[in-house]
Amino acid sequence: PTLKALGHACFALSSETHTVIFDPWLSGNPEAAMGPDDVQADALLVSHGHSDHLGDAIAIALRLDIPIIAPYELAMYCARQGATVHAMHIGGGATYDFGYVKLTTALHGSAIIGDDLIEYTGPPCGFMVTMQETTVYYAGDTGLFGDMELLGDLNRIDVAILPIGDNFTMGPDDALYAVGLLEPELVVPMHYSAFDVISQDAHEFARRVKQVKADCTARVLKPGEETQI
Ligand code: NI
Ligand code: MN
Repeated sequence: PTLKALGHACFALSSETHTVIFDPWLSGNPEAAMGPDDVQADALLVSHGHSDHLGDAIAIALRLDIPIIAPYELAMYCARQGATVHAMHIGGGATYDFGYVKLTTALHGSAIIGDDLIEYTGPPCGFMVTMQETTVYYAGDTGLFGDMELLGDLNRIDVAILPIGDNFTMGPDDALYAVGLLEPELVVPMHYSAFDVISQDAHEFARRVKQVKADCTARVLKPGEETQI
C-alpha cells in the first residue's frame, strides 16, 4: 500500500484498488495538499469530532456516496447531516472491501464546537487498519497511554502514525516513549505544524526515533508526499 500525507492529521492509505482517508480536514487547513473536491476515496475514517479532524468528512462522504467510519456518537451526528455511516466503537473491528479496521483507545476529547452549542460526539478513537497484510496504527489525537504496549503486543505494526505536537496531544518525548511500546517498523509523525501552539521539529523527532530504536525507521512526510509501506 501507499501512505500519503495530506496535511496535519489527514492521510490517505491506498492499495491498487482502494483508498481510505483518515481525518479529512482540508478546507481551512493551511497545509492541505488537495481540496476536498479533489478527494477520491472508498471510505473516510474519522477519529473524533474536533474541526481539524471531522473537517470536510460530511461534504466528501455526500459527494462520493461513501461511508464515514467513526465512533458511534460521532457517526450518528454525521448520519443526521445526511452522510452514510458505519458506526463502530473502541475495541471493535469490522471487515470492509479495503481491509480490516479496529477502533483503539485515544485519550482526548470529542465534540462539535458550534457558536452556541457544544455537541458531545462520544469518545475519540484511533484506528488499527490492515490493508493487504500491512498494518497501520493511526493513533488519532491522544496522550500517551500504557495500553499502547498491548496494541504493540497484539499487532505487528508496520506503520505508526503518531501525533507529536504537544499541547493537545503527545509531544515528541511521549511519542518517542510510545514508539517503544508499539514497536512499529516505521513511524510517521503528524499533528505538529498547522498551528503555532503545536509547532515541533519533526525531523529532530525522526532522528531521535532512529537513535533510540535502532530497528525502527521514522519518516517525515510533507503534505503531498507519499511512501510505499
Ligand atoms: Ni482533537
Ligand atoms: Mn487535533
